[in-house]
Amino acid sequence: MPDLSVTLSGIKLDNPVIPASGTFGYGAEFKDFYDINILGSFSFKGTTKEPRFGNPTPRVAECVSGMINSVGLQNPGIDAVINEELPRIATYFKKPVIANIGGFSVDEFVYCAERLSVSEQVGIIEVNISCPNLHKGGVNFGSDPKAAAEVTAAVRKATNKPIYLKLSPNVESITEIAKACEDAGADGISLINTLLGMRIDIKTRKPVIANKMGGFSGRAIFPVALRMVYEVSKAVKIPIIGMGGVASAENVIEMMMAGASAVQVGAENLRNPYACKEIIEALPRVMAELKIDRLRDIVGVA
Ligand code: SIN
Repeated sequence: MPDLSVTLSGIKLDNPVIPASGTFGYGAEFKDFYDINILGSFSFKGTTKEPRFGNPTPRVAECVSGMINSVGLQNPGIDAVINEELPRIATYFKKPVIANIGGFSVDEFVYCAERLSVSEQVGIIEVNISCPNLHKGGVNFGSDPKAAAEVTAAVRKATNKPIYLKLSPNVESITEIAKACEDAGADGISLINTLLGMRIDIKTRKPVIANKMGGFSGRAIFPVALRMVYEVSKAVKIPIIGMGGVASAENVIEMMMAGASAVQVGAENLRNPYACKEIIEALPRVMAELKIDRLRDIVGVA
């Protein structure tokens, strides 16, 4: 039997496949397609202190091999996530989840981390310092090593849960940011968030997205994500969750060979709601073809 299990900060996952934040909601819609307990875990929609409607519409644009979003962290706020979503998740998902948090100040990140710390269902807190769709907060914390370290250190003090900082590719040096997070106490790094992109409707001569620009994700960004996972894995000792354009079992294996200990699947869930199920089911066959007995043995072999 091939062994698909991996470990993230002491948490054993049956396999490395994790739907990415913002592409899987709280799992409720996807559980009607398949039993989501086959997943390694899932990262739920980025949660902020206050509820957010998000950015004005239209906020998505289709692209060849991907899409652009400018959702703007639409979410019901930390109170609703703790009082309604997490108890609901517990009825249909029996594994630890990854709680993704966003913020407009260090205090907001700290507040959300503190509140989520008491939930048994939360295995890892994923700190999103890379949202490209906010006029303040978001990537502003993730594009400067000092600011990234400040958020990391503050969240580190606020919780005993493992914290993974989610990083942006839209920076001068992602390795410098990753190292700053590691030095400030991060348990792991998630990368990459979306690449800043834009479309123009040539008939209206206006940007397609109301906010003009947004985050580009999907299959097209896989080689960029892979390169960044590779570079960061050489620069830090903490585990990496790799993501960006992952759409197949082969992509999962490639990400792990680049240095990822687990892998998130994002935009592909929006194209095919069965994507993660199909990837998990295909992994044993692809592992057999490649003579891989234990998936965790290939982390960083490239
Ligand atoms: C969004 O809600 O704008 C997307 C989240 C992100 O890219 O971090």
